[in-house]
Amino acid sequence: MADRLKGKAALVLGAGSVGEGVGNGRAIAVLFAREGARVAGADLKIAAAEETARLIAAEAGRMLALEADVTKEADLQRVVDATLENFGRIDILVNNVGGSIPGGAEEITPAAWREQFEFNLHYVYQSTRIVAPLMVKQGGGAIVNISSIAGLRHLGNELAAYAASKAGLQHFSRVTAVRYAPRGVRVNTVIPGLMNTPLVAARLAQSQAGGDAAELIARRHARTPTGRMGDAWDVAWAVVYLASDEAKFVTGAEIVVDGGLTATIR
Ligand SMILES: NC(=O)c1ccc[n+]([C@@H]2O[C@H](COP(=O)([O-])OP(=O)(O)OC[C@H]3O[C@@H](n4cnc5c(N)ncnc54)[C@H](O)[C@@H]3O)[C@@H](O)[C@H]2O)c1
Repeated sequence: MADRLKGKAALVLGAGSVGEGVGNGRAIAVLFAREGARVAGADLKIAAAEETARLIAAEAGRMLALEADVTKEADLQRVVDATLENFGRIDILVNNVGGSIPGGAEEITPAAWREQFEFNLHYVYQSTRIVAPLMVKQGGGAIVNISSIAGLRHLGNELAAYAASKAGLQHFSRVTAVRYAPRGVRVNTVIPGLMNTPLVAARLAQSQAGGDAAELIARRHARTPTGRMGDAWDVAWAVVYLASDEAKFVTGAEIVVDGGLTATIR
């Protein structure tokens, strides 16, 4: 299958990757381009966005790489304006930026708690506030938010701020979906489980396994009912579906991409 997103203009927030390889945002941008979308990809690290653009160019596609800190409203407005300037419209918005810090209420400082909410939830409210009205004017659009199964269940390791902010993201998506349903803007959430992305070695190994990435990767494979973690492409395919017209009747919904993990935790 190809051309599932033909003619659509997409903005992916967090289109780079924290480490070498392919994280969720990079996989989403690459599949969008393969499926015929015109893609703008923003990232805090312009080099990470440019690497995604380079991968897409190697397949004879093109991604407009933009630098932005999505937690800054002015940056969000600037990348939206740049996307409009280049493509004339935004049919798809993906809010992929996010990440966790460990700890519960006693360990997490008030400043770190606020930062987690800025990083995982507040910017999604801001990007939605800016982009959804544009989509309404255009006659429709699709917003896809990237959450985590930590927003559904306690995963055994305490991630209170991440879990709470991702749970908030999921419900924000649902209530926003209802508001915009009559005006053709769909809002859905992809909920990844334990994925084998560069994030695991680059960040989680330190916070969850004393720096031992191999040990953490083995543990995450073993916890997943399929015996293997998923990868960024598994997340990205779900995003392609929700962003495409194939999902024209799907809004306020979630696709859990976790190899059955949450089905085992009640
Ligand atoms: N990897 C997993 O196992 C996993 C599991 C569940 C959910 N998720 C979710 O998937 C999403 C992406 O994860 P990933 O593994 O692709 O991570 P990633 O960190 O590799 O990709 C995200 C990108 O966002 C960029 N970024 C960070 N802060 C930013 C900011 N303030 N403004 C703009 N860009 C910023 C990073 O530079 C990076 O390139 C997150 O929302 C994460 O919570 C990941």
